[in-house]
Amino acid sequence: MVFARLTSLVSIALIASQAAGAALTKRVTCSTGHVTADAACCKLFPIVDQIQQDLFDGGECGEEAHSALRLAFHDAIGFSIHGGKGGGADGSILVFNATEESFHANGGIDDITSRQFPVFQETGLTPGDFLHLAAAIGTSNCAGAPRLKFFFGRPAPLAPAPDLTVPEPTDSVTSILARFADAGFSAREAVALLSSHTIAAADTIDPTIPGTPFDSTVGTFDTQVFLEVLLNGSLFPGNGSQAGEVLSPLHGEMRLQSDFLIARDPRTACLWQEKINNQALMLSEFKAAMSKLQVLGQKNLVDCSDVVPVPKTLSGSIKYPASFSQSDVDIACTDLPFPSLATVAGPAPTIPPVPGS
Ligand code: HEM
Repeated sequence: MVFARLTSLVSIALIASQAAGAALTKRVTCSTGHVTADAACCKLFPIVDQIQQDLFDGGECGEEAHSALRLAFHDAIGFSIHGGKGGGADGSILVFNATEESFHANGGIDDITSRQFPVFQETGLTPGDFLHLAAAIGTSNCAGAPRLKFFFGRPAPLAPAPDLTVPEPTDSVTSILARFADAGFSAREAVALLSSHTIAAADTIDPTIPGTPFDSTVGTFDTQVFLEVLLNGSLFPGNGSQAGEVLSPLHGEMRLQSDFLIARDPRTACLWQEKINNQALMLSEFKAAMSKLQVLGQKNLVDCSDVVPVPKTLSGSIKYPASFSQSDVDIACTDLPFPSLATVAGPAPTIPPVPGS
């Protein structure tokens, strides 16, 4: 009798747990044939195609994709866990552009806000949903990138973010880490977010050389930037030394003072070095930190991550640019072994600018 009662209790528990599992994996088929987690996401699939066509030249990892990611950061970081700053990942930088673009740290952002604005209007999304969806799609166009999450349902922003929330390349590591901490990010998460500089170039640091990349593989989301920022610098790629810039190892490459310092600071050097040639670590930390960044200040969002395109993967190890080797590395983390890497064959390269910058 006791045994029979126990058996039926176990079967009830099993049925209940199977039902819960089914609820977790519930899928909806949209009229377009796409399968997604929530019916509310269905309307996004045609919008993703439209953004790819109208903003990213049919799905490229070019200037607009890079800038869309930078824009997501500059929008979201206008936030404090202590209150009193902006609304976070709310799209305020897109609609209150006249105010936010006047901030020094937002130099060059007007190019991407004016590119995005007409596409944003066509889609009918709120500014925050549009901007953060565009960042996830643009990033997915870069081979090697993680498939970023996308959460849907941000209300329209109420006000611009205040000035002095976006870190500058002339800032000290202490002030950069303090700003990230104020927005809710640890030093580990801050370094993870800087993986973005693997698909980045500068237009405004030295305006004589727009589109100057931060690493030799600006079109792929690899760990090359973590290696190249540690190479000993010897030259300025453009019109001499500029504010926020330090010596670079390669012709055509720009090195930010902030990246240089973070790569060498005792608080962050090992977090930086451990990502070199560790694509999986970089991707998982970047994806987690982005997923936090892109919902700062937001609540009650629907997980529509399955509308984000799946990026191409990369295989193989990264390499030293031609003519460089470990003897050119300024090793700042002595707690971890430095990875052993091969060198690209040939003479030292000159890195071409990003087209369209
Ligand atoms: C310490 C914090 C950071 C500083 C000081 C910094 C600084 C900069 C600067 C000065 C540029 C070049 C702007 C120009 O001259 O056109 C840049 C580009 C860029 N940044 Fe950052 N950044 C930081 C963190 C981030 C984060 C957290 C992200 C994204 C999650 C990000 C994404 C990008 C991207 C994608 C670009 C390239 C944009 C393009 O090529 O058009 N940055 N950053």
